Amino acid sequence: MQMTLETKPFAALETDALVSYVFEENDPVQSRIAEIDQAANGLLRKLAKSGELTGKTLEFTLIHAPAGLKAARLLLVGAGKREQFTGATLRKIAGAALRHLKSRSVKQFAFLVRENDATEDAAQATTEGLLAANFEADKYKTDKKNDKNIDAVVLAGYSESERAVGEKGLSKGRIIADAQNFARDLVNEPSNKLTPRILAEKAEAMAKEAGLAVEILDEKRIADLKMGALLSVAQGGPEPPRVMVVTYTPANPKPGAPVIGLIGKAVTFDTGGISIKPSDGMEKMKYDMAGGATMLGVMRALAALKPSVKVICVVPSTENMPGGTAQKPGDIQTAMSGKTIEVLNTDAEGRLILADGIHYAKQLGATHLIDAATLTGAIVVALANVNAGVFGSDQAFTDKLLASAKAAGEKMWQMPIDDDYREFIKGSFADIQNIGSGKGGGAITGAMFIKEFTGDSPWIHLDIAGVAWNDDAKPWLAKGPTGTSLRTLVHLVMSY
Ligand code: BES
Ligand code: ZN
Ligand code: ZN
Repeated sequence: MQMTLETKPFAALETDALVSYVFEENDPVQSRIAEIDQAANGLLRKLAKSGELTGKTLEFTLIHAPAGLKAARLLLVGAGKREQFTGATLRKIAGAALRHLKSRSVKQFAFLVRENDATEDAAQATTEGLLAANFEADKYKTDKKNDKNIDAVVLAGYSESERAVGEKGLSKGRIIADAQNFARDLVNEPSNKLTPRILAEKAEAMAKEAGLAVEILDEKRIADLKMGALLSVAQGGPEPPRVMVVTYTPANPKPGAPVIGLIGKAVTFDTGGISIKPSDGMEKMKYDMAGGATMLGVMRALAALKPSVKVICVVPSTENMPGGTAQKPGDIQTAMSGKTIEVLNTDAEGRLILADGIHYAKQLGATHLIDAATLTGAIVVALANVNAGVFGSDQAFTDKLLASAKAAGEKMWQMPIDDDYREFIKGSFADIQNIGSGKGGGAITGAMFIKEFTGDSPWIHLDIAGVAWNDDAKPWLAKGPTGTSLRTLVHLVMSY
């Protein structure tokens, strides 16, 4: 989808639809909307009087052949209360408007920002919302819904003197949304089309195209490095594991600056292994590599945005299969760090592969660690499909991430990991065990296990099991992969 900025007055825009947004207040027809109303001979005020135009969140008012405008349609989207309006609202409104028009076979439209929104941030949020909304997980449909995709959007409402900031926001928004859609494409791939080897090839191609350093560790290197926890998961099936290492190095690295380590779980299919999952809904376990996809997408965006800190991304990848060579409950494995693990449940495999991924990222020089993983069903019990779970060992670092999540419009909620929970993973016959002993707190148990491999480094764990996949389409986002957490992590790295 093409996106450009246009400084012409809105009445002169020749387009399939002119889109703007209305606040829920006593008089929703104000300032820029009042100007449209004047051009349209008072039609909007009439609609407001009759109660058809209220500004309630995601209310759509579509007017054909509006008087006084060159546009073929006028679409007004409710933005809710003005006091509660943020970049996150704008992102959603823009996305919802696009999907509303897309289902009506519109091909191009103009999005007019309101009087106070001709800023860089607004251009970025609008662009992110629009491009994410245009994505459909229909790669394998021969009858393409894609054919309905929007071809071009013009961003309007900026004056000539505001053009530079608008275009800057637009270009940042495009970089971030393209990276998010890249991650969503990976997550959408079924496990027969995306094995660890294929994921590694795609990661390598992405890194080379983006100008990032990349190294792919094959099963032999993985064995040489003694990544026993990762190998224990991989031994359940014939597909060999991979570890992807993608590195961004700034042009002028500052001595003493943090080195960010991004570690993503990439289980390309999770059957549960010998502790096999019920068949009902198991097809969704193709998205068990969403954490890895997010981290690769973050790297893709960073290559273009050029932050001033070094970032090392480590993505361990395997299938979790119940073959004849699979590990069995009770097996004891030795992780790369040397810690021994009693595997009481082979379905708690994400924490095993992250243990080695995190240890390796530290060995490569990462000082600040962040992992993202579809780790537990328990996080869905705790936070439903609304918030990602955030676990942090360093409150200042965690606060920084939570601030980035706010700025990026992604919902994240902090969970506890104090020492009282350490008991949950104390091993009976090895150093630690990979599940708790049936006392609840499943998501915390997973985090406590991973924490064992982080040492003294500030570390954040994102449990994205509840937010990486939309079971139903949202007005602003298609059904399927969401590309969650990418915007937050890009914002965080850029804030250094
Ligand atoms: N990949 C799953 C977690 C998951 C569940 C992701 C639902 C997305 C949606 C993970 O590997 C897993 O199976 N976790 C177990 C842990 C348990 C055995 C302690 C779980 O959550 O049931
Ligand atoms: Zn599992
Ligand atoms: Zn899993």
